[in-house]
Amino acid sequence: MIFTLTPNPSIDRSLTIPQIRFNSVLRSQKMRLDWGGKGFNVSRSLQQFGVDSMAIAWVGGGSGKMLADGLQSLGIQTDFVWVDNDTRTNTRIDEAEGDWYIKVNEPGPAITRGDIEQLYQKVEGYAKKDDIWVLSGSLPPDVPSEFYADLIRLFKSRGARVYLDTSGAPLRYGCQAEPYLVKPNANEAGSIVGFEVADQEDAKRAALPFLRMGIDYLALTMGSMGLLYATQKEMIHAKPPKIKVKNESGAGDSLLAALIYGQTRGWEPVEIARWAVATGAAAAETEGVSEFDVRRTKEILPEVQSQIINVM
Ligand SMILES: Nc1ncnc2c1ncn2[C@@H]1O[C@H](COP(=O)(O)OP(=O)(O)OP(=O)(O)O)[C@@H](O)[C@H]1O
Ligand SMILES: [Mg+2]
Repeated sequence: MIFTLTPNPSIDRSLTIPQIRFNSVLRSQKMRLDWGGKGFNVSRSLQQFGVDSMAIAWVGGGSGKMLADGLQSLGIQTDFVWVDNDTRTNTRIDEAEGDWYIKVNEPGPAITRGDIEQLYQKVEGYAKKDDIWVLSGSLPPDVPSEFYADLIRLFKSRGARVYLDTSGAPLRYGCQAEPYLVKPNANEAGSIVGFEVADQEDAKRAALPFLRMGIDYLALTMGSMGLLYATQKEMIHAKPPKIKVKNESGAGDSLLAALIYGQTRGWEPVEIARWAVATGAAAAETEGVSEFDVRRTKEILPEVQSQIINVM
């Protein structure tokens, strides 16, 4: 069984306006609502591959209901802890012609100690051997930064595999608990290793500290530069072809789902990396957040460049 955990989900509201101007009333030409959250994106992406998962989250209010309905309408199982305040709405405003955008992420609802306890008990009830847990995204403001690390230790003690995709302090603590796989993007990896990850060479250098911490797999994504997929034995660099980008947001979540898909099928690391990058690219060229069509993954796949770098 695969479980995805989304502690800080959101409704993503995207507005398009002719031009961004300040101190004036702007009229939007187009409005789009995507319901999201990083773990939900992974669940949706897994479903594209025909893989079921259960989505677990703190949600609240009308926006929480919208999330629950959205997931259920896709046939994704959910088990939520309902909190008193509304799930947040993140807003992005794009110019129709220009390059500017404004993105405002709300912090997320208040989470009480009781809410934390309830979620912990819920996942503890599920945690068992050979399951996969995907811990994704930021933590709400009231949740301690060690939250993911504590869960990783719990799941590992039960013999489950943990995939971690977060940033900042939760990523730092999480890495110390040695998850099975960590998926930072270049910025997130840079914040852990203390230098900027700007190209493939930097990525290779950045992989070593993660592996030394005892993490089995590092999937370091670099947008259009693709993925460095590193294990204790080898590193693979996979690069997508040039595509027409429509929405890169959530492409990393689709890539993570593709990694899980390939790994659970026992594919060779190079095949896993190629499949993941093709999926990320397919998601980046699709308008919806983290949406893609597996047929595009398959079309892009032969165009992915890959290189195996031996480290031993
Ligand atoms: N401009 C692009 N061209 C081609 N592929 C892309 C592009 N941007 C993203 N991708 C694909 O998506 C993957 C993940 O991208 P990125 O490193 O931006 O992830 P991320 O920052 O974690 O994204 P998010 O957190 O929004 O899901 C890349 O490895 C690549 O496969
Ligand atoms: Mg990401």
